[in-house]
Parts: sequence; C-alpha cells; structure tokens
Amino acid sequence: MGKNIIMNKETLKNTIQQLFASNKGLLAMDESTDTCNKRFAAAGIEQTVEMRRRYRELIVTTPGLNENIGGAILFYETIRQQTKDGINFIDVLTKAGIIPGIKLDMGAKPMAGFQDEKVTEGLDGLRERISEYKTLGARFAKWRAVIAIGDGIPTMQCIEANVHALARYAALCQEADVVPIVEPEVLMDGAHNLQQCFDVTEQVMKILFYQLYKYKICLEGMILKPNMVIAGTKSTVQNSKDEVAEATVNCLLQSVPAAVPAIAFLSGGQSANDATAHLNAMNKNFKNRLPWILTFSFARAIQQPALDAWKGDDANIKEAQNLLYQRSKLDVAARQGMY
Ligand code: 13P
Repeated sequence: MGKNIIMNKETLKNTIQQLFASNKGLLAMDESTDTCNKRFAAAGIEQTVEMRRRYRELIVTTPGLNENIGGAILFYETIRQQTKDGINFIDVLTKAGIIPGIKLDMGAKPMAGFQDEKVTEGLDGLRERISEYKTLGARFAKWRAVIAIGDGIPTMQCIEANVHALARYAALCQEADVVPIVEPEVLMDGAHNLQQCFDVTEQVMKILFYQLYKYKICLEGMILKPNMVIAGTKSTVQNSKDEVAEATVNCLLQSVPAAVPAIAFLSGGQSANDATAHLNAMNKNFKNRLPWILTFSFARAIQQPALDAWKGDDANIKEAQNLLYQRSKLDVAARQGMY
C-alpha cells in the first residue's frame, strides 16, 4: 500500500501513556458554543462568552483534578482563554500535568440527500489548524461523527462519509505527531433496543477500522472514543448494568483491533451514575479478557452535577469544583472495577 506517512510513533505512544497513567481518564470540556449555551440555558445560566470563560476557569482550576484527569479536550474558543488573573487555561492545565487537547471537527451538519442523518465537517484547512493548535500546546485532538438509529437509518452512505472523514482527520493528526481521538458516536436517541445498538455499533466499527487501515492510520497511536452499547432512551426495555457491560465488551471485541491501546467512552446522555457504573461493570467483569484499556472521556457524566451546583454564581465555585473532583475520582475507580 505504498510508504507509510511520516510520523513519530514513539511520540504518539508516549502521549497516550501519559494521558492514561495511574488509571486516569479524559475530561471532555469541548462543548461547542451552541451546545454549551443549551446546557447553560437549561441550568438558568446566562449564555455569554464571559460566562463560558468563567465556567471553564472553574473546571481547569479544580484542586486535585490532575489526580483523575490526564487530558482535557478544549473547544477553540476555550484554548485561547485565560483565568481572571490572566493565566492561559492551557498553561494552568499543563502546569497541573493535564495534557491539553483540541476538538478539531466543525460539527455534524445535515447530510444532503439523507434525511435525519448528519456528516461531520472540518477537513478543509485542517493541516494548518493542527499546526496552530500544536504551537499553542495541544498534543491530542478529537473529531466526533454521529450516527443515528431510526427507520431505515443509518444508511451505508452516512457511515461511509463519516468514517472517511475520521480517517483523513486521523492521518493529518498523526502526520503532526498529535494523537487523534476517533469518535464515531452511535446516538442513544430513539426507541431502539440494545441489540439494535449492538448491530449498528459493530457495523460502524468494522467499516471504520477498514477505512483506518486504508488511510494508513497507526492504530497504536490513536484512541477510540465510542458509545456504550445501550438501549435507546425511548426504548421500553432497559437493561441491567451487567447486560450493558457485556454487550459493549462483546461488540468491541468483535470489531476493534487489539493494537488500539485505549478505548475512552463518551457518556452520551447517560446519568453520571449510570455511565460510571457501566464502565465499572466492564472492568470488573471482563478486565482479564481485554486487550485495551477501558476508560472514560466523559463530558456530561463528569460535568453535569458541577454545572447544576454552580448555577453561574461564583459563591458556588468550591462546591462545583468538589463535585467535579468527586465525579472524576469515581470514574478512576470504575476504570479499575472498584466503583
Ligand atoms: P458526553 O460524555 O456528554 O457524551 O460527551 C462526550 C463528548 O465529548 C461528545 O463528543
């Protein structure tokens, strides 16, 4: 298949090792402006640049966060922001030993000709943007594709367009020695059952890994960020923690090569307790059978209790930071099957 792209495999592997040392996981704090505003609105918080900055300052200055979090994924607005005392967020994180990462995709947009399906954009100018964020201090990155389950969907076209973009993004990251988080999220929205989520997730993974092979991605130098295999939020049948754990592990064993060092789950709208309990059950019940680290890269399942406690009021910062710390500590326990 021709010559491999030039990259420093050791740099990629070292970054991954540091991200997940001491049973740590990742904190996704890369909500786009729209998503962050939606969450602020739901919590009764004013939706302004300054409130987003204050909220992200609360997160990055949480005492002890580095005990549980090896890397934080930032949004492009956030990566250039500073604390009220004028210290760059990126410097606060780096000093604490938390590696900064950057969300590189430009969002999932309606896919022309394919109703209710989306394709993630952001490849144009990506090499230059990677170089810019690397100069700022980012050592890993994220790109999220979304796959919906419904009547007649996902289509093969939607899966193929999305995994093609994931592969090209991952290649550009690795060319720059930046670790790509490859995130194909099968959504929880809908009435589908656990088996349907299993089938779609397996199909997406198999097509994804064939595409990653075709585009010469170094599997040892990437992180996979999948959904858990779980029934849709509107499904009348919801499964036990052990059933979700078993389905997720079996699905990934069928479809994810052992060369991938780490799988860091998204929480996808599960409650914080559910997401942590599912991760715990996977590690508790299957740890000895797994070729990869199973860890977390949660946004809502780490942040939501803290956001609800903060309410946009600085008087609540300590309490919010404490909740953020506690949630991430529980996820570290879940990574070891000790939650
Ligand atoms: P959730 O954990 O809230 O699903 O977010 C993870 C993420 O980064 C989605 O892209």
